[in-house]
Amino acid sequence: MSSRPVPGSLRLRFLLAITLWVVLGIGAIWFSAVGIFSKHVEESYHEELEVHVRELGRLAEVGPDGQLRLTRPLSDPRYEEPLSGFYWQITARNRQALRSESMTRGTLDEHIAHSPEILHTLENGPSGPAITYGFTRKGPSDEDIHFVIATDQSELDRLIGSFTRDLSLWLVGLGVFLLATGMAIISFGLHPLDRLSVAIGRLRRGEAQDLEGRYPAEIAPLVADLNAYLHQNADMIAKSRVQAANLAHSLRTPLAVITDEAERLGETAGGREPSKVLLDQARAMEQQIDFQLARARSSTGQPYSARWVRLPEVAEPILRAMKRLHPDKHFVLETNNCDGVQLPLDEVDYSELLSILLDNAGKWATREVKLQFVCEPNQSFTARVIDDGSGMTEKELSHAFEIGSRFDRQKSGSGLGLAIARDLADALGLTLDLSNTPSGLAATVCFHPASIER
Ligand SMILES: Nc1ncnc2c1ncn2[C@@H]1O[C@H](COP(=O)(O)OP(=O)(O)OP(=O)(O)O)[C@@H](O)[C@H]1O
Ligand SMILES: [Mg+2]
Repeated sequence: MSSRPVPGSLRLRFLLAITLWVVLGIGAIWFSAVGIFSKHVEESYHEELEVHVRELGRLAEVGPDGQLRLTRPLSDPRYEEPLSGFYWQITARNRQALRSESMTRGTLDEHIAHSPEILHTLENGPSGPAITYGFTRKGPSDEDIHFVIATDQSELDRLIGSFTRDLSLWLVGLGVFLLATGMAIISFGLHPLDRLSVAIGRLRRGEAQDLEGRYPAEIAPLVADLNAYLHQNADMIAKSRVQAANLAHSLRTPLAVITDEAERLGETAGGREPSKVLLDQARAMEQQIDFQLARARSSTGQPYSARWVRLPEVAEPILRAMKRLHPDKHFVLETNNCDGVQLPLDEVDYSELLSILLDNAGKWATREVKLQFVCEPNQSFTARVIDDGSGMTEKELSHAFEIGSRFDRQKSGSGLGLAIARDLADALGLTLDLSNTPSGLAATVCFHPASIER
């Protein structure tokens, strides 16, 4: 299993679900936190302004000169800073208006202060929209004195904005942390599947007999069932091969009796013809038996043989054996551009196929046998066994793969090699051809990746 979230993978599904979950969660936190904070900040702002306007009322008086004045400045110094966003104003008919030092320009609308009750509204202040509080009080000559205090709305917006910025940064950090931990949780949760995929790889390569390791309760029954199936399958194959071998062996004795009888029949008068037919048929049956025994010995279905052929390593033990078997012949290996290439083939079957072809070449070569590997860029691969012998006629070539075909009685052999080779090539999904070359016979085995189900 890929440890990256590729399309269609469980990892990608979990990752998308976790991302959605984190984005929704963080979004909900952001909206509620900004909303609650804004509400609280606005409330405390309004409370503060109300306190200030009351303080302004307490500190204001009409002096002996009949002019409005404050007994002392307001406790908040921001009302003294020019255009600070914090302003106050006291007005009364026929008296000079009194304004905070911060109000270096403009005026506040006194109409907000039209009742003894403190009222508030959003007005245009000296430096933009302002939250304005105001009330009236009667002066010494029963005139209305208007107390107005204002704070720029932008001050409130700035506070909320800076909180929102800090909160967003923090939540983005939290989101990244949650996604990273989410990925770690996915990897931790899916780790048993990674181990399962490694175990399947070992099984496919023939390095293990079953799926090894302990797995969580959710997949353990599946692994146990699969292992039981693998063992049962291997047992069945082993039993069938033993049965095939037993059957072939058990046919040998009756066949020997029949051959014996047929030979004796040939010695009697008029028995020559039927004896010849019987002997021919008995020989054909014998070859079939030998062929089946040889195939039962080959690895097809062996659970423990490697499922990958590594080049050029696969050729080394075979060539060593061939040099011992045909010491008078010179064996040459040409790997061309195939070093390090791996083919998804059963190693034992593929080795046996090469051995049969190299043995033939060794038997009929004059001096030299060449094993050539050629790897094409399209991943197809060719193994060619070329000898420098006399080759075969067209007729011999057309019958060479038949069971029992032998064209050179001077050399020993059963005529089964090429039949088995063709059978192995078919089982492996390879093509096998014989052809004459200027030097001798060439046996060519081709692998096309498309014809093999990996
Ligand atoms: N490289 C070759 N050059 C010439 N003739 C060959 C070559 N390979 C095979 N033949 C011919 O094809 C026949 C069939 O070969 P095959 O390998 O099936 O049988 P064998 O080698 O005679 O016996 P076995 O391989 O069963 O021991 C051989 O008997 C031989 O006549
Ligand atoms: Mg042979």
